[in-house]
Amino acid sequence: MNTPAIMEKLKREHRLTKEEWIFLFDNRTRQSDEKLFRMADEVRREHFGNKVYKRGLIEFTNYCRNDCYYCGIRKSNLKVSRYRLSEEEILSCCEEGYRLGFRTFVLQGGEDGAFAKEDMIRIVSAIRSRYPDCAITLSIGEWDKAAYQEFFDAGADRYLLRHETANKEHYESLHPKQMNYERRIECLQALKEIGYQVGCGFMVDSPNQTSETLAEDMMFIQDFRPAMVGIGPFVPHHDTPFKDKQSGTVTDTLFCIALLRLILPFGLIPATTALGTISETGREQGIRCGANVVMPNLSPTIVRKKYELYDHKICTGEEAAECVNCLNARMEAIGYEIVVDRGDSPLWQGEKKA
Ligand code: 5AD
Ligand code: FES
Repeated sequence: MNTPAIMEKLKREHRLTKEEWIFLFDNRTRQSDEKLFRMADEVRREHFGNKVYKRGLIEFTNYCRNDCYYCGIRKSNLKVSRYRLSEEEILSCCEEGYRLGFRTFVLQGGEDGAFAKEDMIRIVSAIRSRYPDCAITLSIGEWDKAAYQEFFDAGADRYLLRHETANKEHYESLHPKQMNYERRIECLQALKEIGYQVGCGFMVDSPNQTSETLAEDMMFIQDFRPAMVGIGPFVPHHDTPFKDKQSGTVTDTLFCIALLRLILPFGLIPATTALGTISETGREQGIRCGANVVMPNLSPTIVRKKYELYDHKICTGEEAAECVNCLNARMEAIGYEIVVDRGDSPLWQGEKKA
C-alpha cells in the first residue's frame, strides 16, 4: 500500500477498505496532505467551480435534555443562561436572512422538549409559506420517524444530525447512557427514507478518536452517502467533563474535509464555525481543501453568546449583516464567491412539493 495510490483510488471509486483508510490516517506527511488538499480542490471545482453556498443558521433554543460530555449546552451545565426564540423572532431572523441573500434557513436547537412536534410543524409551515423559494433545514436532534415525516410534509427539505462517531464504544465514551448509537443511526436511516437531504458528521480529534474510529466514520459515510457532511474540530468547553481535553487541529480537520470531498464529489460540506474558531483563517482553508458551504449565524446578537457549544466561538458579537460582509470579503480574497442560491445537492432528485 502507498498513500498516493490509495488517494487516486479514492478519487476514482469514492470508497476504500478499512485497511486503506487506516493506512491513510497513519501515514500522513506534509507532502501527502498537500497533494490530497489539491486533489480535493480540483474535484470541488469540477462540480461547483468557485461557488460557495451560504446557510443562515438560526439557533432558536439552547435548552437541551441531553448531556453529551463535549457540549457546552448539556443539561448538567447549570451556568448556561437558557433562552428560546419565539415563532415571531424566528420569522424575523428569516426575514433579515432573506434580505441578506440567504435561500436556506437552518433551524438548529438543543433537544428542547418545550418545542413540541406541533410547534415545529407550525414554524416550518410558516417559513415554507412565506419563503417558497428557500430551503428549510432542521437540526433538532432525535425524533421518531412519524415526526420526521410530518416535518417533511410541512415543508422541511433537509436534516442535519451528526452521527458523532460510527464506532459504538467511542459513541458511548462521548455520551451518557441515555443516548444510544443504534438509535442515532436509525434516525439517519429514517430521515433518508423519508426523502430528506440528510447531513451527518463528526468532530475531528474528539477524545478517544483513533485512526480506526475515523476509518469507521469514513466507511459509514461512503456507504450512507449523505447529501451533506458537517465536520469541525473538537473544541473544549470549560464547563463540561471534557474541559481538559485537547482541542482538534486545523490540519486534521482539513485532511478529513478533503477526504470527504473525494468520497462525495457532489457533497455539501461546510467550512464550520468551529474550524474558524481554532484558526483565524480556518474557514478559508476549509474552502480551499474541498468545502463549499459556510453557515453564518442569523440568531439575534443578544442570544448568540448563549449558544456556546465550545469555548471562544467566533462571531458571537457580530450582526448577521456583518458576518455576511466579512465572509463575502474573505471568500473573494481567496478567489471564491458566495452565491444567492438554495444550494441543493446537484444529485438531488427529490420530489418537490408545491
Ligand atoms: N466542539 C466542537 N463541536 C461541538 N459540537 C458540540 N460540542 C462541540 C465541541 N465542544 C458539535 C457536535 C454537534 C454539533 C451541533 O456541534 O458535533 O452535533
Ligand atoms: Fe462573522 Fe467574520 S463571519 S465576523
